[in-house]
Amino acid sequence: MTASDRRSHWQTVYLSKGEQQVSWSQADPQPSLRLIKSVAPRRDASIIDIGGGASRLVDALLASGFHDLTVLDLSEAALASARERIGATGEAVRWVADDATVWQPPRAFDIWHDRAAFHFLVEDNDRAAYLDRLHRGVRAGGHAVIGTFALDGPEKCSGLPVQRYDPATLGGAVGPAFELIAHEAHRHVTPWGATQSFQFSVLRRK
Ligand SMILES: C[S@@+](CC[C@H](N)C(=O)[O-])C[C@H]1O[C@@H](n2cnc3c(N)ncnc32)[C@H](O)[C@@H]1O
Repeated sequence: MTASDRRSHWQTVYLSKGEQQVSWSQADPQPSLRLIKSVAPRRDASIIDIGGGASRLVDALLASGFHDLTVLDLSEAALASARERIGATGEAVRWVADDATVWQPPRAFDIWHDRAAFHFLVEDNDRAAYLDRLHRGVRAGGHAVIGTFALDGPEKCSGLPVQRYDPATLGGAVGPAFELIAHEAHRHVTPWGATQSFQFSVLRRK
């Protein structure tokens, strides 16, 4: 799938479906928020949400006092919807409409968060491009919190194939520049009551 096909797929999704019509919707962004707080004791930590879409994680981070926040997604429609929802309290948030496999990190962040974006990269070249950005986009001693479908999770999402991981295979994919320091299983319940098996891993940049 080219970056252009990906963008048009996700633009169509966000332009045609409401928050309660997408499987990944969450009112309370857990375990992401708790895991981010576990590795970001200071409220001035710089945090980027990769493939953040219209997620309410940014609302929850702002409400918790974090203020150096960036949300990257290839769908402008998703970002516009989050931005509009948050209003003036989100003025300081940086919204980046780009593909995580082509974007160039402008800085090394303290925290890189990704819930259900990396797992859509099923081709080696796309994964390598993402991981190159991950390596450059997290400072030494910083952390990545990455949630993907688990090995017993769905094989597809939004009509697209996904690569499923357990913490060991995710850690192996990310490579030796990061150390896996924590992980947990998570059962996500979709707005229509289906259950999806996720894994969340916390990795520390050496
Ligand atoms: C399943 S949704 C999850 C959205 C959000 N992380 C959440 O938890 O609500 C996947 C998101 O990843 C974005 N995405 C997919 N591939 C991407 C890529 N290569 N670069 C940036 N964003 C991407 C999509 O636009 C979509 O918003």
